[in-house]
Amino acid sequence: MEGMATVEHLKDVVTAGVAAPSPDNNQPWRFRWEQDRLTILLDRSQALPSDVHHMFDLLSAGAVIENITIAATQHGRSTEIEPLWDPDDPTEFPQVAELRFSAGARPDPLAEAIPARCTNRLLYAKKPVPDQHWEHLRASVAAFPDVHLHITADRNQLKALARLVMLADRFRFEYPAFHAEIFRQLRFTAEEAERTRDGLDFRTLALPPGSKLLIKALRSWSLMSRLNRLGLSRALTWPSYGSVLRSGGAVLLSVPEFTFVHILAAGRAFERLWLAATQLGLALHPLGSLPIFIAHEEILDGVKLTPQHRQLARRLASRLREWAPALSSRVLMMVARLGYGPPCRVRSLRRPVESFFE
Ligand SMILES: Cc1cc2nc3c(=O)[nH]c(=O)nc-3n(C[C@H](O)[C@H](O)[C@H](O)COP(=O)(O)O)c2cc1C
Repeated sequence: MEGMATVEHLKDVVTAGVAAPSPDNNQPWRFRWEQDRLTILLDRSQALPSDVHHMFDLLSAGAVIENITIAATQHGRSTEIEPLWDPDDPTEFPQVAELRFSAGARPDPLAEAIPARCTNRLLYAKKPVPDQHWEHLRASVAAFPDVHLHITADRNQLKALARLVMLADRFRFEYPAFHAEIFRQLRFTAEEAERTRDGLDFRTLALPPGSKLLIKALRSWSLMSRLNRLGLSRALTWPSYGSVLRSGGAVLLSVPEFTFVHILAAGRAFERLWLAATQLGLALHPLGSLPIFIAHEEILDGVKLTPQHRQLARRLASRLREWAPALSSRVLMMVARLGYGPPCRVRSLRRPVESFFE
């Protein structure tokens, strides 16, 4: 039988789809259901100024597709994916891919992890992750041969990576557009998070008590830029350093080229890895600054950066490749730290499923 057996099944798989992670919880997706086909589109109005040719939104779309594919197996459906992305599509809702469902699939055990997965920004225990868990994570992305997974659990290597992550995080605080993006996405109160059902609920950020007032004051770019001259942006990135050190290890996903098909595959692989980690009881925290600001330099030729920041981005890229020579001729898609952490106390919300349909 083609398609989905019932509307409930369709709603169920799309609900699993929108449980996927997205940058700053921007949920940049739309869906169209026509003649038994589910089309996934991007919603450009949700794009973040710091994104590079929709790289992060497409990684997120890949995660949505993977969740849908996994959830469909629970209804005995296998999914055929036809990529549709046209980088020159000028419309507000460019198509990403079309999914067709047909009978005949065994349930994918990762399905149970879809509602349990969360971004865990808390500090993790200093407990090593056993080798067989790393091997299990490696196996979870084996279906995507072009996506290379670099795993590190070595303390010295982690220290060096922590320094790179910290340097990359500075960009977020040193540009008016990226600074504005943080405040566009932040939801300072539970009511605000509940009303919009998107963005970053302040309570999920695991920041120290009292930091809300300070961060609210930093909404003013003129104050922020003045304080940056006194070293604020550097000080704000220290927690990134500490959190990487307090992890069982880190993973880096890379692809051979900056193409839509590779980015989508990386998004799918990343979601499978995250779900597999969730099943193993491992917490995961994506660290997006390093891939996105290297992409600003290497993919966008630094057009949005100052000469000093271009230099910093180039330094980051070359240090990263000294750190992991295997990444030399590849494009970094994502970095994440993993470990044994306390459970996510507050969950990020999603907009209602119906609101994503055209
Ligand atoms: C492409 C991408 C980049 C992300 N980058 C970061 C990041 O740099 N820092 C962070 O704390 N979370 C990052 N996240 C996690 C999102 O903020 C998170 O998925 C979103 O807020 C929804 O929360 P949830 O994952 O708990 O459902 C990223 C997610 C994606 C898909």
